[in-house]
This record gives sequence, C-alpha cells and structure tokens, in this order.
Amino acid sequence: MKLHGKTIVITGASSGIGGEVARLARFHGAHVIGVDRNDPMVTLDGFVKMDLGDPAAIDAAISHLPAQIDGLVNAAGVPGTVDRDVVARVNYLGLRHLTDALVPRMPKGGSIVNFASILGVEWPKRLDAHKQLAATAGFAAGKAWLDANPVAQETCYQYFKEALIVWTKKRSVELFMQHDIRMNSVAPGPVFTPILGDFVSMLGQERVERDSALMKRPALADEVAGPVVFLCSDDARWVVGANLPVDGGVEAAYV
Ligand SMILES: NC(=O)c1ccc[n+]([C@@H]2O[C@H](COP(=O)([O-])OP(=O)(O)OC[C@H]3O[C@@H](n4cnc5c(N)ncnc54)[C@H](O)[C@@H]3O)[C@@H](O)[C@H]2O)c1
Repeated sequence: MKLHGKTIVITGASSGIGGEVARLARFHGAHVIGVDRNDPMVTLDGFVKMDLGDPAAIDAAISHLPAQIDGLVNAAGVPGTVDRDVVARVNYLGLRHLTDALVPRMPKGGSIVNFASILGVEWPKRLDAHKQLAATAGFAAGKAWLDANPVAQETCYQYFKEALIVWTKKRSVELFMQHDIRMNSVAPGPVFTPILGDFVSMLGQERVERDSALMKRPALADEVAGPVVFLCSDDARWVVGANLPVDGGVEAAYV
C-alpha cells in the first residue's frame, strides 16, 4: 500500500478536499491525524482542534500531535471573502508556523504538501515581494512585513496563494538538501466544496463566466485527493518544490 506505516497530519480535514485526502490516505494505509477548527465528519485515527490563524494556539495544540510525522498536508484555508488579516494568518503565516514547528518531527523521506490554487498562477509577476515575505523568519516577522507592505482585500486570496507557491519553492530546497524532506504544492482549479460559492462572490460573475468557458466543470474533491496522496508517497521521492496544477486543464488553457 502506498502510505502503509506512515503517519500523516492533515489540516482542514473536517471539510472539502482535506476530508477527501484523509479518506484516501487512510485507504492507502496511512495513520491519519486531522487538524481543524471544526470537528471532523470523516473517520480519522486522531484529531486535534486548532485555530491555524493563531500562533499561540498552534504552539499550545501541537503537543497533542504525534512525535513522528511522515507527512503533513496543509489543506486548511479560507476564501478572500473573509478579512484579509485572517486570510494572511490562515492561508500563509499560520501554515508556515505549523510547518516549521513540525519539521523537527519529520524523518528523512518526509513529505509536505501545501494547498495553493489556480488563482496563484501569476506568482512570477510579484516574485520580488513574495521572496521578501518568504525570507521573513516566523509569524511575527511575516506579520510585520505585511503591515509595512499591505495587501488589498480584493486580491488578498490570490496574493497569499502566490506567496505560498514561492515560499514552497524557496523552503523546499533547504528542506530537501538539509533534511531529506520534500515539500511541494498543489494548485486546484474550482472544486465543489463549501467554499466554492465564496469564490464566485470574490471573483465576480464576469471572471467566473470567463473561467467557466475554459473548463469542463469544477472538480470533485476526490479528484484532487489522488495527486496529494501521490505527493505524500515514496513514489514521488524525486518531486521537490513542484507546484502541481490539479485543474482539469485550466492553467494550460491560459497559455
Ligand atoms: N474549493 C475550491 O474551489 C478550491 C480551489 C483552489 C484551492 N482551494 C484550496 O483548497 C484548500 C481546501 O479548501 P476546501 O475547498 O476543501 O474548503 P473547505 O471550506 O471545504 O475546507 C477548509 C477547511 O479549513 C478549515 N479552516 C479554515 N480556517 C481554519 C482555521 N483558522 N483553523 C483551522 N482550520 C481552519 C475549515 O474548518 C475547513 O474544514 C484551501 O486551502 C483552499 O484555499 C480550494
């Protein structure tokens, strides 16, 4: 089995794509621990309630996570319809904080998968800013950089998904060279989950109609779970720093 004997922590496991990754990872033999602010709705091997937007809450709750973690899937996220400070905290700063805190528990061969988005596709346009943010050491320093370089509410979701892709690439090199830990991201297109409606409000009807013409349909959450499980597995042992589109061809259609 692909993930036999591996312990995998999955954030956002109480809904949508994170829930499907949890289900598929268990099917492939993993011991799965969910992390979320809400109670889980799928069968898990363990669950830790955590507010991933609050570094103190993360620090307090991580003692309840296993001493050895082979995989970390950072699927928790909020849409751009919530306050930009919350988007920054949950989708970027808190994700980094949790990841950095758990790296010392990961053995060689460990795998981290971050949830970016098709909406992060324009990361090269703001590469310098994203590299500066990526270079900040920790939650407080990242927050201070963002206070000095504020991000617009209207584009904050896209901005932090772009920033996450850049951080994933930068950090993946150090992690692989120094610790033999792999980090990659996935970039789903639209997926039928509870936050899909928020994306429609966030992007506006015109953009949604334009993008709809480029795709067959939104994905089902289980269609995104398979590539994530692959990235967690040893089959992906030479895949490092990649941002894998899982979007039914939307990114390709932008070319
Ligand atoms: N659904 C889509 O169309 C789509 C497209 C591209 C990328 N994504 C990304 O995929 C990931 C999963 O999204 P989804 O569609 O499954 O959404 P979802 O709303 O179904 O699940 C998100 C989960 O994150 C948890 N969460 C949110 N804030 C939290 C916090 N502060 N602390 C702890 N847990 C928190 C929620 O409780 C929920 O269980 C997200 O990162 C999202 O940005 C989704």
